[in-house]
Amino acid sequence: MQLLNRLEKNRSFDGVIEKVQSVIVSAPERVRDVLHGVGLGHPLHPVLVQLPVGAFMSAAVLDLLPGQRRAATTLIAVGTATVAPAAAAGWTDWSQMTKDKQRVGLVHATANVVAVGLYAASLVARSRGRSGRVLSYAGLSVAGMGAYLGGHLSYARAGGMNQAAPDLNRVPAEWTSVGSLASLPEGKPAVRTLPDDVPVLLWRQGDEVTAMLERCGHETGPLGEGEVVGQGRDACVVCPWHGSTFRLRDGVAVHGPAANDQPLLRVRVEAGQVEVAQP
Ligand code: FES
Repeated sequence: MQLLNRLEKNRSFDGVIEKVQSVIVSAPERVRDVLHGVGLGHPLHPVLVQLPVGAFMSAAVLDLLPGQRRAATTLIAVGTATVAPAAAAGWTDWSQMTKDKQRVGLVHATANVVAVGLYAASLVARSRGRSGRVLSYAGLSVAGMGAYLGGHLSYARAGGMNQAAPDLNRVPAEWTSVGSLASLPEGKPAVRTLPDDVPVLLWRQGDEVTAMLERCGHETGPLGEGEVVGQGRDACVVCPWHGSTFRLRDGVAVHGPAANDQPLLRVRVEAGQVEVAQP
């Protein structure tokens, strides 16, 4: 953990990080959205890594059994071939992370590149009639270190998590007033704060009001400071930090990096007062 803490603060590779990041963000937005998992409602990277991880783990077991060499080699080929889409999704998520996470992510990706190189060398050795098992077990070991770093990013640093979830749990279950309907501007978002310091973004169109959590589910950016694009039912708010775009009427993530929709609250208007509650 001490090494990881030091790595998160180490600026040595920030120049490389910025160069790689600039290449990734120059990819078409549509492609980046698919790779982030927009439309799926879940980050794509953890879904895709199941393919190579499952293939490599299964190959490691088969390599210990008699008569399974051919099957193990086939699984290593499958794992090596399916790394590319998983890596593309991972790099795309990485490009919109905070610098401390990017530093760990760079080492995570480097370990995986080394692991795939070892697996590819194992495939070559197997194709030449040699065992190739030392190379594939070395690949599995390095991939395990990469996976440890990926787990640290997800579970210790909440990379790829829906950061709106903690706020949603703190929204009162009972109806809570957020002010009068008359005080809400028409067609312009307004921010009100619920007890327990939960900011809510209110969007009024005539007598209809929608309420979404104001802290962006990607990295808690302030959606209340974001630009509104589109009109009427298509109006969206754009997060000022990394550009995630959420439709105001239903919270749907239209553009990433956020893959999860932004949670909406229940809303009612009682005696001219706008009230919200947990969905
Ligand atoms: S905080 Fe990253 S897009 Fe909102």
